[in-house]
Amino acid sequence: MTQISLRGADRVLHVAWPDGTQADFPFVWLRDNCPSGFHPQTRERQFDLTGIPMDITIESATQDNDDIVLTWAGDGHVSRYRTDWLLAHRPGIGLADPARIEPVLWRGDLAPETLPRAAAQDLMSRDDALLAFLIETKKTGLAFVDGMADDPDAGMAMARRIGFLRETNFGSTFEVMSKPNPNNLAYTSHALPLHTDLANQELPPGFQFLHCLANEARGGGSTFCDGFAIAADLQNADPEAFRLLSETAVPFRFQDEDYDIRRHHRVIDLDPFGNLQELHFNAHLAGIFDLPTAQMEAYYRAYRKLMQMTRSPDYVVTTRLKGGEMVIFDNRRILHGRAAFDPNTGFRHLRGCYVDRGEFDSRIRVLSRTYG
Ligand code: OGA
Ligand code: ZN
Repeated sequence: MTQISLRGADRVLHVAWPDGTQADFPFVWLRDNCPSGFHPQTRERQFDLTGIPMDITIESATQDNDDIVLTWAGDGHVSRYRTDWLLAHRPGIGLADPARIEPVLWRGDLAPETLPRAAAQDLMSRDDALLAFLIETKKTGLAFVDGMADDPDAGMAMARRIGFLRETNFGSTFEVMSKPNPNNLAYTSHALPLHTDLANQELPPGFQFLHCLANEARGGGSTFCDGFAIAADLQNADPEAFRLLSETAVPFRFQDEDYDIRRHHRVIDLDPFGNLQELHFNAHLAGIFDLPTAQMEAYYRAYRKLMQMTRSPDYVVTTRLKGGEMVIFDNRRILHGRAAFDPNTGFRHLRGCYVDRGEFDSRIRVLSRTYG
């Protein structure tokens, strides 16, 4: 049986579960999260925190089977909490998240055949297969789909099965092929060194989908590396370079006739807990560095070191997309590139689109309600 006790002086309710787990719940937290304060349909909080004093106190605490019932001093409001709900929301621990999937770092010795791979038909028709694939894709950050319909919209249809598309200045979908008057190096036949897309955006797109409709030209192989593995190794090998890249913001810029989209980012971005969150690495969209002169050389040294790592077989895996294949990767973790191709030797056409991380994660959580 769950045990409860009040520690009025600390303004906490102490709860001890039968399995030995214990937690202290601050009174103000309990009142703010009283189930009666949430709209029954939308599940959004309607309670007004400013309507209670910070030193709110509890008149009585009792147990009613699996519920803990509190009566508040002052207005006499009664709050009822399920003990398993309290267990799931312990302060300092927080709610478990099916989409919080630890990245499994990989390096140049990874055999591309071992990366997650699924059949388009399965992903389109089976939610359980989709969930398993999304989870594996979050681990490696890079995955492939085979058997895509020979339809230019098939990649978008697959992406939409996960979440709504992230539209950019290139459209909700973009044609990667050699074009006259290109506004992007991807739309030439030049090689693209490893990069993340659209680092010039306020929020660069999350997952990228590149559906290969044709890859008949000589050249045009694909390269990938795990930016998190590079960043982790740099942190060990050269902490000062890591510090500079994770603390200094540098400009990125895209410009054409219709747009001039600029943003400063840190090349290595950490989340508020100090974990790797994303990389912004794109030499062709890097703006003109605007650091004070005294910091410039040291920064260049760090930046160039990271760039050298992206050229090293220690990190880079090479593969070649075939017509009917689609690659999916976390554009904020995995760097991608391609070899130059000769457009006179055959047609090469990839069709791309993006789904942001938030929608991708939401799909994992919702599918996990049924298949988790
Ligand atoms: C891109 C890109 C890769 C390729 O369009 O951003 O990197 O293989 N394309 O053409
Ligand atoms: Zn790209």
